[in-house]
Amino acid sequence: MIRTPVCDLLNIELPIALGGMGSASSPEMTAAVSQAGGLGAMGCHYLTPEQIRERVAATRAKTNKPIGLNFLLFDVREDSFATALELGPAVMQFAWARPEQDLKPFFDRSHKVGCKITNIASSVPEAVRAARAGADIIIAQGSEGGGHVGWMGSMPLIPMVVDAVGPIPVLAAGGLADGRGLVAALALGAQGILLGTRFLASIESPLHPNFKQAIVDSDGHDTQLSEIPDIAAGLVWPGAMTRSRRNRFIERWAGREWALRQHRAEAIARLRAARQSGDVDEGPLSMGQDAGLIHDIPPAGDLVLRIAQEAEEILARKLPRLLS
Ligand SMILES: Cc1cc2nc3c(=O)[nH]c(=O)nc-3n(C[C@H](O)[C@H](O)[C@H](O)COP(=O)(O)O)c2cc1C
Repeated sequence: MIRTPVCDLLNIELPIALGGMGSASSPEMTAAVSQAGGLGAMGCHYLTPEQIRERVAATRAKTNKPIGLNFLLFDVREDSFATALELGPAVMQFAWARPEQDLKPFFDRSHKVGCKITNIASSVPEAVRAARAGADIIIAQGSEGGGHVGWMGSMPLIPMVVDAVGPIPVLAAGGLADGRGLVAALALGAQGILLGTRFLASIESPLHPNFKQAIVDSDGHDTQLSEIPDIAAGLVWPGAMTRSRRNRFIERWAGREWALRQHRAEAIARLRAARQSGDVDEGPLSMGQDAGLIHDIPPAGDLVLRIAQEAEEILARKLPRLLS
């Protein structure tokens, strides 16, 4: 079985984590990843305290293994964060602080209730800042990934972050979807991986079936970095672009972001309707370039085990053969 020191730190069996993904999170998906031995996580930042309680209870009904709760630091709602702390998750998964923001109060409060802290960083300075503030694990997230990402690709970013924050352990994220990705991350010095897009195409993912199928149908070349989904939603993320599927919605506004700002209300109403009806041409679908590696929609727990087994096979059989 593949095991790294981060497994002991997080009290998990396999070094495979789920990214907390806002409205693309579900208790079922979180529980399935944790129950299979990985670390499931749930996006909490736009949830009310009551919704957080309900979703954590629904997750707990399916597993008593460690889970993480994800908050976007630039936009933390105090009552929701306080509720999450009361519920005592094993991990607080933070991401995307504002440049001037003090991370320590969030990290100290989380440590006080016994949580381990992971912090997603898309650059070396961000990783160092989180490490100095007391993060237990840094997640180095490359720009190949789905959702909000920075500018550095995973291949250089992961070892640079490993070198910069060691001995603090690093998980790799962005563009990884299978056992080959896990082995590559380990070779770059990470102790495991965190995945988003791969789990979106799983049975327990809350996405409309058409959106899951669009990930399977993607060859990985049809994603684009833009600010268009955020402009439509009226959100300003500090220093992030969104990687999403290039569809009619993105093409309509690309280069005309000023016009989107003018027609925001109309655009957001159309987006919401498209999301509900499963219209993959008009609804935004955050996904990484690793969509090109995704060919099926299995249970999330099976994915965790499959990725671990693939990685073990490569480490035990394929790579040793290269040594004379
Ligand atoms: C639909 C979607 C929503 C996401 N939402 C969040 C979020 O709310 N908070 C966060 O820290 N990361 C979020 N992410 C990023 C993931 O945590 C992870 O870093 C990323 O998906 C890794 O790249 P991959 O998609 O290639 O696996 C999101 C990713 C996707 C695809």
